[in-house]
Amino acid sequence: MANKLLVPLVAVAAVFAHFVFRPRLQFGDQRRAVYNHVPGTCRAVEGVVHGSEDIVRTRDGLAFISTGVRPAPVLTPDPWYLQGVGKILLFDLKNPGDAVRELKIEPEGKSEGLEPHGLSLYENQESGEIRLFVVNHHKDGDRIEIFRYIRQSAILRLIRSVQHPLLYNVNDVVAMGTDSFYATNDMYSVRPWLKRLERFLSPCWSNVVYYNGSDAFAAADGFAFANGINAPPSGNLVYVCDTGRQAVQVFQRLVDNRLQMEREIHLATSVDNVDVCPDTGAPV
Ligand SMILES: *[C@@H]1O[C@H](CO)[C@@H](O)[C@H](O)[C@H]1NC(C)=O
Repeated sequence: MANKLLVPLVAVAAVFAHFVFRPRLQFGDQRRAVYNHVPGTCRAVEGVVHGSEDIVRTRDGLAFISTGVRPAPVLTPDPWYLQGVGKILLFDLKNPGDAVRELKIEPEGKSEGLEPHGLSLYENQESGEIRLFVVNHHKDGDRIEIFRYIRQSAILRLIRSVQHPLLYNVNDVVAMGTDSFYATNDMYSVRPWLKRLERFLSPCWSNVVYYNGSDAFAAADGFAFANGINAPPSGNLVYVCDTGRQAVQVFQRLVDNRLQMEREIHLATSVDNVDVCPDTGAPV
């Protein structure tokens, strides 16, 4: 008798748990509050067919777009996204009538296995060199690809590929120099089912890593889900979006490159990428 009752009870509990916890399991509580911001007239740009995770812009209006990242295993896989091919696209904001174009990657074989996520630009004021830092979820492990953008031929030439045991669940990157950067690890667990558990329990094991050109260390930790990261041109502050806490955290960059929390800006929504206002350096 007890067994007969148990079956429907478990079924009801499972359905209940599914509805209560699924949104939280998928992405924090992002479905709860939706604010409608309309920055101006919007127009669909042709040529981005498998979504985009990040977009960065040079001072003179070239926008680099990452596309083709596969959904995290904790999310319900959408067959359409699984067909995506990793690419870096370019859109010229000064010629908005043009479509996006795919940037060629050199050396050629390096575009294979590219699954680009977060992006960051480093523009050298003196030499005019543009470097694009790309979070790459390569099948053999996460890495940061550092490219030089060759304007004349619209080519991204790989300068170096940074792999490090501390770069394991990289979401976004912010370049601090020609070879140095901060990067977010959005979770600690690497296995899909452990990720599910981590997202559910939210033990705050996500961190920010600093790479100085030769070695890396954790510069800040205790994040619920460190997502987008950016820094104003002054270089003394770092902004980190914690999706789990629904806040942008502002850090002071210390002399040894560790990050000290200064304040937290609560936004009541699941923040992802953060940009910087070029005039004021404020997070936007
Ligand atoms: C990078 O960090 C390592 C380890 O802390 C240190 O030995 C090395 O000198 C640093 N390199 C630079 C360029 O600061």
